[in-house]
Amino acid sequence: MKKSILIPFAILGIVFLTSMIMNYSSAQPLLPSQKDSQVSKPISSGVMKIMERSCTKCHTEGGNGMALMHLNLSNWDKFSPEKQAGKAKDMCKMVSKGKMPPKSFREKNPGATPTVEESTLICNWATPVQMVKK
Ligand code: HEC
Repeated sequence: MKKSILIPFAILGIVFLTSMIMNYSSAQPLLPSQKDSQVSKPISSGVMKIMERSCTKCHTEGGNGMALMHLNLSNWDKFSPEKQAGKAKDMCKMVSKGKMPPKSFREKNPGATPTVEESTLICNWATPVQMVKK
């Protein structure tokens, strides 16, 4: 049988799962002495992966004009920590309420709609440690 063909896929799967778990655990700020609002909040690679599939088409340079007015992910690094925290919260809200990506986009790209796990990942990244709900 062609078992050897499956091995690269198995490895890919393991790497992917491991990186998901690592992103999940690093979603909380690493520096407890600093307040969340003062620390720049890079987009974690787990969140970025979801957004590349579901958001960046409209929300990065060259995307949808209206979308960019609200959120331009290409400029994320230039946002102040306060702005990043606010936008991150908005992103969590939009995704978990099912408002983003927009309905028409979901219908055209059913595979690009974030799953419940994925929106949880975005929200865990977005929510400051002191606000984590039970
Ligand atoms: C098909 C294009 C498109 C995609 C894909 C898309 N958006 Fe948007 N987004 C828009 C548009 C257009 C607006 C502004 C229009 C509006 O206010 O409804 C917007 C607005 C927003 C806002 C600001 C909302 C507000 O009221 O301030 C946030 C936050 C946001 N999007 C996050 C996301 C996230 C996170 C994703 C991926 C999960 C995403 N969007 C995917 C088009 C898109």
